Amino acid sequence: MKVLGLETSCDETGLAIFDSEQINSANKGLVGQVLYSQIELHAVYGGVVPELASRDHIRKLVPLLDELLAQCDMSKNDIDAIAYTKGPGLIGALMTGALFGRSLAYGLDIPAIGVHHMEGHLLAPLMGANPPAFPFVSLLVSGGHTQLIAAQGIGQYEILGESIDDAAGECFDKAAKMLGLPYPGGPNIAKLAGTGNPNAYELPRPMLHRGLDFSFSGMKTAVHNLIKDTAGSDSDPQVRADIAASFQHAMVDTLVKKCVKALKQAGMSRLVIAGGVSANMHLRETLEAELAKINATVHYAPPALCTDNGAMIAYAGFERLQAGQADDLAVSCVPRWPLTELPALLPAV
Ligand code: KG4
Ligand code: ZN
Repeated sequence: MKVLGLETSCDETGLAIFDSEQINSANKGLVGQVLYSQIELHAVYGGVVPELASRDHIRKLVPLLDELLAQCDMSKNDIDAIAYTKGPGLIGALMTGALFGRSLAYGLDIPAIGVHHMEGHLLAPLMGANPPAFPFVSLLVSGGHTQLIAAQGIGQYEILGESIDDAAGECFDKAAKMLGLPYPGGPNIAKLAGTGNPNAYELPRPMLHRGLDFSFSGMKTAVHNLIKDTAGSDSDPQVRADIAASFQHAMVDTLVKKCVKALKQAGMSRLVIAGGVSANMHLRETLEAELAKINATVHYAPPALCTDNGAMIAYAGFERLQAGQADDLAVSCVPRWPLTELPALLPAV
């Protein structure tokens, strides 16, 4: 089954084609993908402007589809089904992909399915080099979410813990802004941290001894105070690198300790990390080392499939379509949508 995936929940227009018949080949079923980022469009406003995001998705969807089909050497008639992001996200942005996908599927007389953006992230590591078997604990760390989830199967999710304030990616973005680095902050902090000393400054590790929830607002304040004390945003480049490295170290340390705790609590030995922050190399390397000590393994997607993309939507859509699920002609997007509300996908009999 060849599934076209469409991601338009925020500021990236991502399209990809997943072919289940190629799942065992080197490309893991990913025939091709295109991604257009609106980062420059929103940069002057200091954040995503929803109306501009929607208009830009509309502008880009048709040319990107043409580019994708040419890349895959396919025509529209080769597509068997369409998966689009139905939520959570910006309602206007979601509607562009949903209406485009639903209408195209109607025109081609093929099924369409609305996909949960975070389920897309959560399942993306199944397209990775070392795909995990269920059950596993998943750390979902993106710009809007920080959640620890026990996953027994597709659609069988239990939230073990989550952030009570900022998301981990949001915290990376805010710390980057304070250091004068451009959005998205995560990759820029990681780059600057590469030349810094992670032990230069002691930053808080919030709520380490309190269950599996996270809190990052105190860490943000601590970075703010540190920058004020050291004049770090406009002073010595080494001081800035040391602040970035110390911040990244504190974030990773907190995330890793909670992951270890979650695995023990759930009695599981596989951890999946997904979402934009899972592209962070320091997080990956620290998890590899710490989980080896408890005979557990960590699984993740290739970096390009950690941040928003169409491939994860195509893959999650494929899993649900092949289990017989599909949406009717009505298009309904869900800007706020708990992952736990998804129907369980029962194995085919
Ligand atoms: O999953 P994603 O692309 O979009 C959302 O659904 O939110 O995640 C974006 C977030 C941003 O906050 C970005 O700064 C962060 O992921 N991020 C990273 C890295 N790459 C992206 N954070 C830390 N290290 C990275 N290498
Ligand atoms: Zn995302």
